[in-house]
Amino acid sequence: MPEILKVGIAGLGTVGSETFRILTERSEFLSPRSGKKIEVTAVSAKNRTAERGIDLSKVHWIDDARDLCHRADVDVIVEVIGGSEGIALEIAELALKNGKSLITANKALIAHHGDAIGRKAEEMNAMLGYEAAVAGGIPIIKTLREGLTSNKFTRLYGILNGTCNYILTTMRETGRDFNDVLEDAQKLGYAEADPSFDIDGIDAAHKLAILTSIAFQTRINFDSVHTEGIRFIAPIDLELSAELGFRIKLLGIAERKLEGIQQRVRPCLVPINSPIAQVEGVFNAVAAEGDGVGLSLSFGRGAGAGPTASSVIADILDLASNRRTPNFGVNALDLEDGNPINVDCLHGSYYLRLKVVDRPGVLADLTAIFRDKNVSVEAILQRGRDPEELVPVVLTTHETSESSILSSIKEFQKLDSVAESPKILPIENFTAD
Ligand SMILES: NC(=O)c1ccc[n+]([C@@H]2O[C@H](COP(=O)([O-])OP(=O)(O)OC[C@H]3O[C@@H](n4cnc5c(N)ncnc54)[C@H](OP(=O)(O)O)[C@@H]3O)[C@@H](O)[C@H]2O)c1
Repeated sequence: MPEILKVGIAGLGTVGSETFRILTERSEFLSPRSGKKIEVTAVSAKNRTAERGIDLSKVHWIDDARDLCHRADVDVIVEVIGGSEGIALEIAELALKNGKSLITANKALIAHHGDAIGRKAEEMNAMLGYEAAVAGGIPIIKTLREGLTSNKFTRLYGILNGTCNYILTTMRETGRDFNDVLEDAQKLGYAEADPSFDIDGIDAAHKLAILTSIAFQTRINFDSVHTEGIRFIAPIDLELSAELGFRIKLLGIAERKLEGIQQRVRPCLVPINSPIAQVEGVFNAVAAEGDGVGLSLSFGRGAGAGPTASSVIADILDLASNRRTPNFGVNALDLEDGNPINVDCLHGSYYLRLKVVDRPGVLADLTAIFRDKNVSVEAILQRGRDPEELVPVVLTTHETSESSILSSIKEFQKLDSVAESPKILPIENFTAD
């Protein structure tokens, strides 16, 4: 390893520019932390003339980012372009093939190809760093892989998408509807112009799949993550769940069960007094339940230039210091196939919102279906009274199986008094926190 670690940065957007700025402006502060000088030698982005607020005059500009992977003056590629396929994947493969280390903030890439990329890195004795890919400024990969390494985990859950958490928090605080708050989030830069990856739960599912692999030492299995987003959440859900003592959070949850591994991302009711319910706005949090440590909760900013670059640079310093940890707690080669468990095998309590015709006997019809399916009702809340209008009705249940809930819903939909498909939110019990 040379006394200078030479860095090539592919992508100079939000994360790449901030990484470049810190590496160049804080060079003297960072060197003693790793015993090496860290020097950015070459960079690449799409538009050479774009104004980025950083001085690129002393580094090589490379038109084709793939060429970074062939340069003798680059030891490590920082891939901060994004996307699970295309140029990002090509760069990852090429860098490792050429024996260069790879550091990335790209959760989509790791969620889809982390296993193969990890194996290639091991084969080439190169480092793979992806701390920035999950929960931006929270060093959760390091926490799971190093700090909590002696633990056997039973469950891991978290708020993994700041955009969704901002939207749900603001809806609850203001009573405004989803589309209205989403528009605000876009104006504030918290949501992309195309927000679907965030609000449909895909971004959180990418991160969950990565964390699951480390926590349970199983191969990353993004396809088996049951994924729901928050588009269907209405102000009344936030209002009524608060009345019942809950907040609504989009959670990623991974559990090791006897039969295998269950992974899900979906909006859930969580008790107001649980630590995870207190995580508001754009903040993220990850809770890990280990047999030694009990509950360990990490909290911080999940995205943004500063928090994400902070994690990228931590990986760079690990490489410079030659601090190496097996890629997923164990080597990618040693990951097991975790048997994926379907969401309808779960048991728990549920919150259901229906729109019904306001006439006598409707609630009796609903509860009769629940009785036949062995589901016991805990609470019923109805808002408004208007025989001319459809009114919302919320039911919460005692512990039951998800399959009983799903088959009850099918029966509900056959009733002519029930309009539109009922909305279901699981109630996650974190009171033991
Ligand atoms: N932003 C965050 O808060 C955050 C947080 C955690 C993880 N991440 C991840 O970090 C990665 C980068 O995100 P970002 O927000 O920094 O993205 P971004 O602002 O959109 O920047 C992407 C960069 O990639 C460059 N680029 C695009 N296509 C390219 C190509 N074919 N060749 C070379 N460069 C190309 C762009 O060039 P131009 O500038 O010339 O257009 C731009 O500089 C993504 O994987 C993202 O998921 C981001």
